[in-house]
Amino acid sequence: MTPDTLPPGSRNKLLNPVRYLLDPYRYYEKAFAQYGDTFLFVGPNGPVVLTRDPEHAKVIFTLDTSQIGIYPEEGVDFVMGKQTIFLQTDERHRRERKLLSPPFHGARMRAYGAVMQQAARDELKTWRKGEVVDFQKAMQRISMAVITQAIFGMTSAEERDQAHRLGAAYMESINPLLLFFPALRREYFGLSPFAKLMRARRALEEVLEQAIRNSRARPPGEDILSMMVNAHYEDGSMMSDEQIRDELFTLLLAGHETSALGLSWLFYHLYHSPETLVQLRQELSALGSHPEPEAIVQSRYLDASASEALRVYPVVAETFRKMRAPLALGPYTIPVGYTVSVSAIGIHHNPAIYPDPNTFRPERFLERKFSPFEYVPFGGGTRRCLGAAFAMYEIKLVAYEILRHCELAPANEMPIRPIQRGPTFGPKGGVPMRILRVS
Ligand code: HEM
Repeated sequence: MTPDTLPPGSRNKLLNPVRYLLDPYRYYEKAFAQYGDTFLFVGPNGPVVLTRDPEHAKVIFTLDTSQIGIYPEEGVDFVMGKQTIFLQTDERHRRERKLLSPPFHGARMRAYGAVMQQAARDELKTWRKGEVVDFQKAMQRISMAVITQAIFGMTSAEERDQAHRLGAAYMESINPLLLFFPALRREYFGLSPFAKLMRARRALEEVLEQAIRNSRARPPGEDILSMMVNAHYEDGSMMSDEQIRDELFTLLLAGHETSALGLSWLFYHLYHSPETLVQLRQELSALGSHPEPEAIVQSRYLDASASEALRVYPVVAETFRKMRAPLALGPYTIPVGYTVSVSAIGIHHNPAIYPDPNTFRPERFLERKFSPFEYVPFGGGTRRCLGAAFAMYEIKLVAYEILRHCELAPANEMPIRPIQRGPTFGPKGGVPMRILRVS
């Protein structure tokens, strides 16, 4: 492969991790200005071609599964388990997706709506007028309550509280350094961060295995665990307990923090651009005093606001594909073994698609429809986020409950910037909000 067929960029120079971590948005802005919409850099796991060009995103998202491998291959199995859908490729990936998809679509979502609204109301009961609540933590409590019920199918409060506690401890023990440096993945007489993670994992494993046994002993229910326990592959076989357990870990990791961060950013933006909040409140009050969940989620300005929050600060910044075959990407040829990435930060801040990209302006989503290659918070193609509809449903219903029952004010007027928190990007220092009224 001659260097001329590669995109411009640093062929030998490692991405500057300090400058990147300090402000990834500024780092990318400078790189796009210097190299153009598609450029090459060397990351900790090898060469990466990153793009904010929708035409190139289209090529990447329409790749056949046989052409793409997993990135990073290392660092996923010890948090999600070897059977996780994240690690499957080819036919096995297609098979798992087909089995797991039904509960994440259509009518099933309505059953989860009630759980989502109730989880928000339960959280509101703990808030007091005048106090400051960190919305990031509060939204995490809500999304964990949703997961224990809608996904794990836990019926008793005791069981849910235990899963909630152990799930939160597990998530907290995932030190991002463990993801990047395999040498740190040793137990060192039980004293290392890895040992702490393994202890948290084993404790949560026991609870999830018990939930699987309980589910097998019950008639089928509407939760996602029950669906997994009762589902059949095309050849008539069923999922093993180990597979189900690993997928439960996967859904916890993929669905807990992401939805909570999306909600935190939504409240941050609404309360830092008051005219959008006024507009949203007007639209929601026009729905009447007891709207159906379906009417809430179809509310146009609410949908546009949630979409815009995930555009301005995407929770997952990059969607990686490791090439198992050479890739023709516009004028470039990307060799086998290279990784390509559709950059949500890059595309969502591409001024050719989104003029004035740093401004939170939900109207964009009412004025025009963006293609799946121009708006990419959930990735795309055969590996697009399985929980996208679930997450949007949750963000909109929880936001509705909070706006309906509370008056809030930002406890801190300063702009909050995103920082990387392992695989996700969240608000630096949380989103502190003062409760002016709660009913
Ligand atoms: C705002 C919330 C969320 C965001 C921004 C988000 C984002 C993403 C992204 C970018 C991917 C990679 C897609 C790709 O490679 O093309 C992904 C994959 C995935 N997400 Fe989400 N996600 C969210 C919520 C959820 C929820 C709530 C669940 C489940 C309850 C979930 C389950 C999954 C699964 C299972 C995959 C792997 C799909 C596969 O490999 O085939 N996500 N998500």
